[in-house]
Amino acid sequence: MIHLSNSPDQTEALAIALARDFRGGECVALEGELGAGKTQFVRGLLRGLGGDPRAVSSPTYVLLNIYERGRLRLFHLDAYRVGGPEDFEGIGFEELLDQGGVVVVEWASRVRDLLPVGTIWVKIESVDEHRRHIEIIR
Ligand SMILES: Nc1ncnc2c1ncn2[C@@H]1O[C@H](COP(=O)(O)OP(=O)(O)OP(=O)(O)O)[C@@H](O)[C@H]1O
Ligand SMILES: [Mg+2]
Repeated sequence: MIHLSNSPDQTEALAIALARDFRGGECVALEGELGAGKTQFVRGLLRGLGGDPRAVSSPTYVLLNIYERGRLRLFHLDAYRVGGPEDFEGIGFEELLDQGGVVVVEWASRVRDLLPVGTIWVKIESVDEHRRHIEIIR
């Protein structure tokens, strides 16, 4: 199903609703161009888990941010600058999936082969400055 979001808050609301059912062990793959709203969506996930969304920034340079304060630990990764899957393996991506938290990956198609069966795909497309089409495939 494709949702229409008219604002960052609406994008967050979709993510909050998604996170509500999480039990731990989920992997969320985010796709969309620069500025589409992937990080905004992660803010919603963290808010839905009871964490502090102000803590969220794109982990483009560090590859991994960890937010501990919600009801589940959130691992936030960004594959934008990875050279290849080996960079993700180098930061222990496979181990992260086994921690019982929630793993979220921006630019996920760049590490597609590493993503587990059952990964939830979220595809965000800009319609114009404020509108986004958001497809959640689970
Ligand atoms: N409906 C909307 N949903 C999400 N973000 C929106 C929306 N309308 C406008 N925006 C703006 O678009 C920008 C999205 O930025 P964000 O950092 O989330 O993008 P991103 O996909 O993570 O980009 P990058 O690939 O650089 O990490 C923000 O400035 C946000 O305010
Ligand atoms: Mg981002």
